[in-house]
Amino acid sequence: MPDPMTPNSPSAAALGVLISGRGSNLRAIADAVTAGEIPATVAIVVSNDAEAGGLALARERGIPTSVLRHRDFGTRADYDLALVAELRRHNVTLVCLAGFMRLLGPDFCAAFPDAILNIHPSLLPSFPGTHAQRQALEHGVKVSGATVHFVTPALDAGPIVAQAVVPVEDDDTEDTLSARILEAEHRLYPRAIRDVIHGEWQIGGRRVVFESPSRRV
Ligand code: GRF
Repeated sequence: MPDPMTPNSPSAAALGVLISGRGSNLRAIADAVTAGEIPATVAIVVSNDAEAGGLALARERGIPTSVLRHRDFGTRADYDLALVAELRRHNVTLVCLAGFMRLLGPDFCAAFPDAILNIHPSLLPSFPGTHAQRQALEHGVKVSGATVHFVTPALDAGPIVAQAVVPVEDDDTEDTLSARILEAEHRLYPRAIRDVIHGEWQIGGRRVVFESPSRRV
């Protein structure tokens, strides 16, 4: 039996974007917010790495930033609770992981039910975890892509919101394939965020079902 449909969803959205690195998806999200394509504000960008390039980008745009270094916390649960507190302090309603290189535990996921998204550079459930593009090349697949999914404590395994297919060329290297997938990510993630914010979707079992087919990314 499928699980009963669960209701959604954040309405007046304040995004909390979690990063660890260069922040190109953060840029795509911030651009879409500025252009009015996502009805939200970026309320806070949090990084676990003070050197993350995305922090400078956020500061340039006047987006509040915060650095929470996981090494400063005793346990994963302590870190997760500090993250939750920081996001709550900024009234975040939808958490968007954008290259955030930390697993989030059950306490974090429970704090934002059906309101944490991640983008992953493969067509999940193929190639979860790190180096997804390298995994795809080594496996010899002819197409790969990007996936936006809800986050659960299991790595890269939550219900899928949207996917984009990207061809794998015979002469691709990890770099060329990663660059092609990244372009697709920058289109896919803002649209998926927009559609999740818009509402009119339900999660039944593992399936995210949009009531209006035009809303399907
Ligand atoms: C992207 O490839 C994303 O799919 C993965 O981490 C990378 C982050 O890149 N989760 P950026 O920091 O957004 O440029």
